Formats: sequence, C-alpha cells, structure tokens
Amino acid sequence: MSSAVSEKTKIRVPLVDLRRQYRGIKEEIDSAIQDVLDSQAFILGPQVKEFENLFASYCSTKHAIGVSSGTDALLLALKSLEIGDGDEVITSPFTFFATIGSICNAGAKPVFVDIEPESYNIRPDLIEKCINKKTKAIIPVHLYGQCADMDPILEIAKKHDIKVIEDAAQAIGAEYKNRKSGSMGDFGCFSFFPSKNLGGLGDGGMVACNSDELAELIYMLRIHGGKPKNYYPVLGINGRLDTIQASVLIKKLGYIDLWCEKRRQKASYYTEKMKELNLITPNVVNFNKHVFHLYVIRVKERDKLIEHLRANNIDCAVHYPVPQHLQKCLSYLEYKEGDLPEAERAAKETLSLPIFPEITKKEQDYVINTIKDFLSISNN
Ligand SMILES: Cc1ncc(COP(=O)(O)O)c(C=O)c1O
Repeated sequence: MSSAVSEKTKIRVPLVDLRRQYRGIKEEIDSAIQDVLDSQAFILGPQVKEFENLFASYCSTKHAIGVSSGTDALLLALKSLEIGDGDEVITSPFTFFATIGSICNAGAKPVFVDIEPESYNIRPDLIEKCINKKTKAIIPVHLYGQCADMDPILEIAKKHDIKVIEDAAQAIGAEYKNRKSGSMGDFGCFSFFPSKNLGGLGDGGMVACNSDELAELIYMLRIHGGKPKNYYPVLGINGRLDTIQASVLIKKLGYIDLWCEKRRQKASYYTEKMKELNLITPNVVNFNKHVFHLYVIRVKERDKLIEHLRANNIDCAVHYPVPQHLQKCLSYLEYKEGDLPEAERAAKETLSLPIFPEITKKEQDYVINTIKDFLSISNN
C-alpha cells in the first residue's frame, strides 16, 4: 500500500526506548551499580531486603520476596501452595505464555476461561462452571496494565476454597477500586523484565503476599527449598533476585508513579486524537486505574496496518498473536479453534502502539497521522 507520508517527513518511532529513561537517571543507576561492585555482594546483598521492604510498602502487602523473574514468581507461588500433579488452575488464554508455562512446569493443568472483549481480561462469570474437585487456584492476569475484575473472582475463590494468584507482571502501580494490583489475592506476582513499567537490567521478579507462613515458604523455595543451609525440607529452585537488579530497582521504584502518570497522559492523548477513527481504543473500566504497560487498539485489517506502520518506520507489535489454548505444546489439552472466541478474535484484531513515559508529542502525532493515512486509503 502506498503512503501519503513523504519520505522526508518520516521519523522512526520505537515501541519502547529504554535508553531515554536511562539517560534521565544515569548517575543514580550507575552509582547504585558501583556500590554493588564495590561490595561484591552479588547474591542476596542488603539491597535485596531493602528493595523487598520498599516494594511491599508500595504494593500495600505485608511481604514481598525478590525472585529471578516474573515466571519464577508464578512458579514459586504455585509451589508454595503445593499445586502440581493432578491439579487444575484456571486462567486466561489471552496472556503472555509465561502464565501458562508456570502452571505446566508446576505439574498442573491449565484450564482456560474466555476474556471480556472490552478489557481483554478473564470473564469472571464464566469461571465457576470450570471449577471442579481438581481446581486449586485461579490466576487472573492484569493484562496491559489494567486489573481484572477482582471482586467476583475473589468471591468465587472464597466460596470454593481455592487460591488466587494475581499475575501482575504488566500492572505494577495499577489499582482496582483503590486497591493495588498484586495485593488482593493470596499472591501478587510481578516481573522486572527490562521493558516492563518497572524494568531491571535483566530478568527479575517479585512475589507479594500477606501471609507470614507463605512468605517464609517462598523465601525457602527461592533458595532450593533449604533451611537451615544444606538441609532441604522442601524442593525449591534457584530463584533469587540479583543484588545488582535490586540496587537499580530501588532507584527506579522512586519514579514509578511519575512514569505511570506519564503513560496515562500519553494514552489519553492517543485516545482523544483517535476517538473518531474506525478503530477501538483501550477501554478503561471505571473502577480501574490503568498503567498502560501497553497501549492496545483493536482494528480490522490489523495485519495491513502493521505493514503500513512498519513501512513508515513505526514499531508496533501484537500481544498476543496466538491465544495460549492453541499453542502446539498444549495440544494434549485438546482445545480447538472456536472454543474461546473472544480471545481468538482479540489475537487477530489487536495491535500495540508505541508507548513509554518519554515518547514525544511529535512521535505520537506521527503515529496517529500514519494510522489516519492508512484508514483513509483503506476506506477508498
Ligand atoms: C502477563 C505476564 N506474565 C508473566 C510474565 C513473565 O515475566 P518474566 O518475563 O519476568 O519471566 C510476563 C512478562 O514477560 C507477562 O507479561
């Protein structure tokens, strides 16, 4: 498809640009890393505990345990609840694969419940009919930075005496009815993957919870299940958060509210400027505070729009092109196309546009104009 945007006016817009964030806080980050280098305390140095305390207080939970990734946060939460062989865990098919991989790696079976087309989060009213004697937990995913509808989920879990593990990997700082993401279930699991709203310099994650007993177990499970040293009453993994990551994340946590606010402003700008267009902008549910980890539109001819944006140097992505129930490695579960229609439709129609706290108005205007350009060509 030809473009009305001339070669001269083309600019490059990345999906996310971590260098801009780093440039803004370089001295703080560099000195935090230098402190760890000076101490050489790379494993469970004092910054890990300091970050855990700050994180628990930010998240409004009693405990927060630093772990090696968001994936391991989910796995450790499941392990601490002794969820494994023969157990079932209910979750959303429209998520990053890690949610599902953790359930399978714990030895349990994922059971998928379709999503609400407006929020892309799990539909609470469909959960109960999937509960049986084997069901041990529900993992709602707070997709793109917006919380799932937690009240009905918590109520169903209470009624059936099953656990709730929030996958808050994309939603640090998000709120549901004034409650922080990750603080409502038995566990909240977070990711510090570099491009997340609170991103480290590599992999990292956090398990938040209010139970003293479960927190103690997670502390053990992240060091192979050992306590005291060299004695292993339970089987864990090597799942610690690095001291270097913790030292950097301490500094970044101080900016998280500002960064989330900027993301919200950038999202509002897109939404305002695109409200008349033939596409669907993100729907923020009225009781939610969205943190726009991703800004996702829904549009017909999505793949042609991707081509058009890329031809005009705009980076974009699909989160996620394959709903997880249709992944090859899960074929043993015998889901087929048509089983979860909303997740399948979302996988075909959604598109993530560039968003990050430092994105400029010029870049956003360029994205918006390039989309308008596409829609006017495709309507003619
Ligand atoms: C929804 C969701 N769950 C889990 C994860 C896993 O986190 P990590 O990449 O830190 O293992 C991610 C992020 O990548 C995610 O987006």
